[in-house]
Amino acid sequence: MTQSTYRPLSAVVLAAGEGTRMRSETPKVLHPLCGRPMLLHVLDALTVLPLERIVVVVGHGAERVTKTVQEQLATEMPVEFVEQRVPRGTGDAASVALTASGFDGDGEDDLLLVPGDTPLLQPETLAALAREHRSGDAAATLLTAISDPSGYGRVIRDEQGRVSHVVEQVDADDAELAVNEWNTSIYCFRRGLLAPALRRLSPENAQGEYYLTEVVEVLRETGHLVLAMAAEDPTEPVGVNDRAQLAAAETSLRARINQRWMREGVTMTDPSRTYVDASVELEADCHLLPGTMLEGRTVVGAGSVVGPESHLVDTIVGERAVVRQTVATEAEIGDDVTVGPFAHLRPGSHIAAGARIGNFVETKNAEIGEGAKVNHLSYIGDAEVGDRANIGAGTITANYDGRDKHRTKIGRDARIGSNTVLRAPVEVGDGAYTGAGSVVTHDVPPGALAKGVPAEIDEEWSARREDDD
Ligand code: UD1
Ligand code: CA
Repeated sequence: MTQSTYRPLSAVVLAAGEGTRMRSETPKVLHPLCGRPMLLHVLDALTVLPLERIVVVVGHGAERVTKTVQEQLATEMPVEFVEQRVPRGTGDAASVALTASGFDGDGEDDLLLVPGDTPLLQPETLAALAREHRSGDAAATLLTAISDPSGYGRVIRDEQGRVSHVVEQVDADDAELAVNEWNTSIYCFRRGLLAPALRRLSPENAQGEYYLTEVVEVLRETGHLVLAMAAEDPTEPVGVNDRAQLAAAETSLRARINQRWMREGVTMTDPSRTYVDASVELEADCHLLPGTMLEGRTVVGAGSVVGPESHLVDTIVGERAVVRQTVATEAEIGDDVTVGPFAHLRPGSHIAAGARIGNFVETKNAEIGEGAKVNHLSYIGDAEVGDRANIGAGTITANYDGRDKHRTKIGRDARIGSNTVLRAPVEVGDGAYTGAGSVVTHDVPPGALAKGVPAEIDEEWSARREDDD
């Protein structure tokens, strides 16, 4: 019996098509879902399987597609690329893959063939397809789905219920159009039988293309067994051809990601309004409120509350923090910190444990010390704020003189009066004070008070400034 014999398994991914229906400058397979390009989701499902080789057929935007995969695929498994120079159809793409990768000779091994536009596909389904294929000792096994078949190729069966052929929607007659079992374009093939079958395809169809689907008929006519396995969940193998399908697939993927995190102990008040990228890490007992978008390498620690309406990109949030109505990029928010509402943390903002960033505060490239408070209407950029310092409402670090950026340093326990302007470079010592409305142009020694506004007029300023250039 061949039933239990082990045969090596490899995979081919078809990702060379133009993706015209997306109407995009970006190759279709690089459109992201939950922050990760479509093709990478497909490859993520493949790379966890015990595969010998993975070959990706690239064509449209080949260089960009190859580079993106190489940069973003987090696996040791080598992925090979072959180029289909002219997009002559899925059958041609499969031929190119076999020929260019030396897969076209005889061989007892099996090949999973997967399109690059099925981002919801799960490894368990691919493994089940390969098992079905082997236990049935088939030449080809199709993954099919039973649901609304609009736009898809229909799987036509004979009177005995055996797979007869696949007909594309544009080539189908009324009886065929009425069939609701559709071709997912995900297959398992006996590799040694696929190559000769592909050589017998012809482009005589509505689109003038070489259809991979035609191998079903070719194999059957040459006396080989073709099986079909229906996917348990018909939404899993959906293909993305246009932006409406992209949005629908992303909604499904988002629901899957959210369910996983909720099972891991994350509270989401309204998961349908919570947007968590595939790359985000959450700890148990954090709580995401509606309108929260977490992107890139964002991490939220245990017991923290994020949202409503917070957008965090590549931002690390510690434990027990509160981050309301906040936009943050490449920021670090320590344990027990509160941020917002309506704060903007720009790259390089590091907020140490227990600090408070209040409403209408912007920070950039700033170290805010433990327990420090920047509670209202301030801009703190290119600055260091010492532990427990208190920054009064409306304080501004004037870090830019029109040419260069300069740093401001505020010492521990300093008390900066409301509406202070700190003209950088400048340093306020530990425990020093500034008066309300002061404009600080010179360093303030520890414990001292700076007050007043030195608004002298210098009529020669512009002239001298130009001379300096
Ligand atoms: C294909 C199937 C259809 C099935 C559907 C499932 C064929 C002829 N049709 O149609 O039966 O219901 O998938 O989603 O196979 N590609 C290439 N080179 C080409 C053409 C396409 O690499 O020359 C790649 C594309 O990048 C894409 C995949 O093959 O990732 C499928 O091509 P696509 O044009 O999306 O096929 P569908 O029309 O969706
Ligand atoms: Ca498709």
